[in-house]
Amino acid sequence: MAVREILLYPDPLLKQKCDLVTDFGAPLAELVRDLRETLAASPGVGIAAPQIGVLQRVVLIDVTGKFPERRQLVLVNPRITTLEEYKIIREGCLSIPEFTANVRRADKVVFEALDEHGQPYAHRTDGLEAIAIQHETDHLDGVLFLDRVACLKTDVFRRKTKPSARAQS
Ligand code: NI
Repeated sequence: MAVREILLYPDPLLKQKCDLVTDFGAPLAELVRDLRETLAASPGVGIAAPQIGVLQRVVLIDVTGKFPERRQLVLVNPRITTLEEYKIIREGCLSIPEFTANVRRADKVVFEALDEHGQPYAHRTDGLEAIAIQHETDHLDGVLFLDRVACLKTDVFRRKTKPSARAQS
């Protein structure tokens, strides 16, 4: 287990499309452990494998700091099947720590994924968790929140304070 370095924009690995996971052996288990350790050491609610330089379709979501009744989610090869109730929210990213931006996201999502053991599951969620899932799934396709901003001049903001746990992923 290890806390891994989080790649920062404009690292070219953050702009790559990631590969589907086909092997659910020890390397995947190690990747998930590293994502857990790295996210736990970060002010974030989600992390995607490419953010630690691994171009595989694996995401970890953890909003339990804010919503203790929820649980950590591991999404392997995720596919969002429903997006509902779009709104504009303020979003951040562990790989772009100095900025936040207004981004249009669905408040409610349904996704299908495999867990870390390769078992398929589906999950419906909303709010911060739904936003984090959209943000992290974007990372798997090399899409960053800056790519989702309607107007770079008016919708991107330099942080005045250190990043907090608020909607960062
Ligand atoms: Ni991010």
